[in-house]
Amino acid sequence: MDLDIDTDTTTQEIILAASNHDTSKLRELFRSASANVQDPETGITPLHAAIAACAPDVPADQINARADRVNVNGSASTGRSSREEAAAVETVKLLFENGAVWHDLDHDNETPGCLALRLKLKNVYDVVVEAGVRAELLLNRLDEFEMLADADGEEYDEPGEAVEGFEVVNPMGEGSADLESSAVEIEHSIPELVQVDAEGTETKIDVNSTDYLTSDLTFHGDRLLDADRNGVMMAWETDIMKRTAELLVPKQGSRILNVGHGMGIIDALFQGETPSAHHIIEAHPDVLARMRRDDWYGKPGVTVHEGRWQDLVPKLVEDNVTFDAIYFDTFAEDYKALKEFFSECVIGLLDPGGKFGFFNGLGADRQICYDVYTKIVEMELFEAGLDTTWEDVHIPDLEESGEWQGVRRRYWALENYRLPICEFVG
Ligand SMILES: C[S@@+](CC[C@H](N)C(=O)[O-])C[C@H]1O[C@@H](n2cnc3c(N)ncnc32)[C@H](O)[C@@H]1O
Repeated sequence: MDLDIDTDTTTQEIILAASNHDTSKLRELFRSASANVQDPETGITPLHAAIAACAPDVPADQINARADRVNVNGSASTGRSSREEAAAVETVKLLFENGAVWHDLDHDNETPGCLALRLKLKNVYDVVVEAGVRAELLLNRLDEFEMLADADGEEYDEPGEAVEGFEVVNPMGEGSADLESSAVEIEHSIPELVQVDAEGTETKIDVNSTDYLTSDLTFHGDRLLDADRNGVMMAWETDIMKRTAELLVPKQGSRILNVGHGMGIIDALFQGETPSAHHIIEAHPDVLARMRRDDWYGKPGVTVHEGRWQDLVPKLVEDNVTFDAIYFDTFAEDYKALKEFFSECVIGLLDPGGKFGFFNGLGADRQICYDVYTKIVEMELFEAGLDTTWEDVHIPDLEESGEWQGVRRRYWALENYRLPICEFVG
């Protein structure tokens, strides 16, 4: 009991010192405590406190309270001096060095990055993005180590269990104590579902690829939904598909591969460029039935490969089939699948002068997650030998236009889509 009170006091002391940008006090506290603490009543972490202290009209020594006290209409950058933002940057860096978690949510459903963005603290925001990139990259690497270890017959079942050469808990001071947690959800990848039992208890469950591929789909005019009303593809994405097709296939007569037919929006655009070869890989039986009905199998240059890309790509590579343009947009697959595709398949399928594109929906229900994952994917594409150029596509307010009515999860919440086009380095 005494211990609880002590822990609680230390948490409040850390949060107060963070909100005062008192780095000396924080250093003293971190001799025996970590920055990975959260106020149980408000969910506020020291990161939230350090950032909220820059809000206009909120005295710094009063901010161990809720983010909703912050005046969102004022511009923080004009309300508080740049010296104050610099102090916040130093404090935030120190917190990350001592175990702060970049994506903890307060009870207003805001991460520290959301708060920095709302208060227009660009320098602070950039520090949070960098910390997020480092932490997520490390978690992804640890995941890969675990998979390798599993393949070798060794077992690393516990998320916190050490991998040789790595300190797992709070790696680099910026990861999470719970290595499996991340704020990032990836559309079109793993939608989050909530199962409610007889007592009304909610349990979050993921849609996995196997379940998705055996579930029934419903085609509406402007959307393709799975059995749980998750949006597999929606017509509001047409502008993204249009611009992607323009940039990916700049000339007629190209050889194109599209992975994931969905509503056929991008394939129809590709057809408009009269490709000399147009291969489509699609795994879902309902989508394939629809493609047969709409005579995709008889369209000029089209070859439909029925099944999962994981099973079909090796044969294409073996047969030396190559393309000028490749687009990848699947559903209910995680980031690892996308990475496997661009790291291991693109090299064998894309012509040296060709272009590769993919649907960039990583973490798109929260700006900070989108910015973190856009950086990660760019770095890992580069590691795979691909240089990326980005173009912004404006997305209109989907809430206002009622797009999400009848759809389980609002998977896009951002103003801009960052459209990637990749080419081999050099
Ligand atoms: C988001 S939709 C593609 C939308 C498409 N870009 C368009 O313009 O309409 C994703 C598609 O990928 C398919 N898919 C999911 N996993 C797959 C896999 N492993 N291999 C091949 N296709 C897959 C789904 O059945 C679905 O048709």
